[in-house]
Amino acid sequence: MILVTGGAGFIGGNFVIDWLAQSVEPLINLDKLTYAGNLNTLKLLEGDARHHFVHGDISDRGLLGRLLAEHRPRAVINFAAESHVDRSIHGPDDFIQTNVVGTFNLLEAVRAYWQNLPADDKAAFRLLHVSTDEVYGTLAADDAPFAEIHAYAPNSPYSASKAASDHLVRAWHHTYGLPVLTTNCSNNYGPYHFPEKLIPLVILNALAGKPLPIYGDGQQIRDWLYVKDHCSAIRRVLEAGQLGETYNVGGWNEKANLEVVHTICALLDELQPRADGLSYAEQITFVQDRLGHDRRYAIDARKLERELGWKPTETFETGVRKTVEWYLGNSGWIANVTSGAYRDWVQQQYGV
Ligand code: NAD
Ligand code: TYD
Repeated sequence: MILVTGGAGFIGGNFVIDWLAQSVEPLINLDKLTYAGNLNTLKLLEGDARHHFVHGDISDRGLLGRLLAEHRPRAVINFAAESHVDRSIHGPDDFIQTNVVGTFNLLEAVRAYWQNLPADDKAAFRLLHVSTDEVYGTLAADDAPFAEIHAYAPNSPYSASKAASDHLVRAWHHTYGLPVLTTNCSNNYGPYHFPEKLIPLVILNALAGKPLPIYGDGQQIRDWLYVKDHCSAIRRVLEAGQLGETYNVGGWNEKANLEVVHTICALLDELQPRADGLSYAEQITFVQDRLGHDRRYAIDARKLERELGWKPTETFETGVRKTVEWYLGNSGWIANVTSGAYRDWVQQQYGV
């Protein structure tokens, strides 16, 4: 079996669902259930004996040691993290605690387990660490996309904490020989995305008749990857990645934020038009920019394609349509996440 951390979050949840749909191999899912963790995402798996959910923290080395000893996974995939840049600006403490200290504790627990495995199991074992393109910092308009050799230059508390975790993972390989793999992926979007991030926030605000907040001039560029493509890249790297290597994962879909928001508005105009016949784009509102806002991210995913034969299957146009349709069809999931802590966050960040 495999052990996944953070599997009640956006990407981890999609990964768990896809894994169990495509493989007979059971999975332990360790998640702290922070505001971003949501067991409703995993509702489809109720009654599936291959899914063992454990409520716990990656910083809890004792718990990790017990889980590893009991279940003897052949691989650990680390999704657990604090992941929202705006929250990291308001309060970086949890980012350091989970992303840096938590990853350190995970590495130590996994090292203790791995060291004592029989030779064949030890050789086959993998720890895959899921990271972000944001560790590379920002690009100018005409810079080449981030390749794996690009220097780390993180600019936000979030990206700095992820960069620190990547460095720890790298060092545990070089120093102790721990069999690690790291993926650095661009912005994901798709089903089960918590509506504090741009794409789900815009869909839900549009439908609720609320402003669509664009930071600064809206010309910041991100590369967007449909979450299911990220999950397939992780499966491929786990299967065939070279130990100690890092792989950049991206969708070849660079878009300015304003263009992303206009695309969503046009899809909603088509699929669920406003009662007054006007476009949802009428709700676009320019708001104060994010502190230290990175201007452009772009991923060069050629290593993953060349060495492991992975390519994304969705374009932005196909993926964003699926995403809008998913949000229109899943009001139960949405009602559940948009209560309580989520409302407090919206009040603090946007004052509405
Ligand atoms: P998310 O915030 O939706 O989910 C994070 C999950 O981790 C939640 O279920 C949360 O409860 C859990 N968690 C948080 N702290 C924990 C702890 N101490 N112990 C155990 N569980 C804990 O995040 P996401 O968007 O799904 O991102 C998953 C991973 O992918 C993160 O490492 C993130 O840095 C990385 N990543 C995200 C993106 C993106 O666009 N969302 C892009 C590239 C990489
Ligand atoms: P986000 O989804 O938070 O991802 P990240 O910061 O990790 O790239 O934001 C994506 C882009 O959208 C980013 O440039 C910030 C911008 N943005 C807005 O313009 N308005 C918003 O309300 C949010 C949440 C993000």
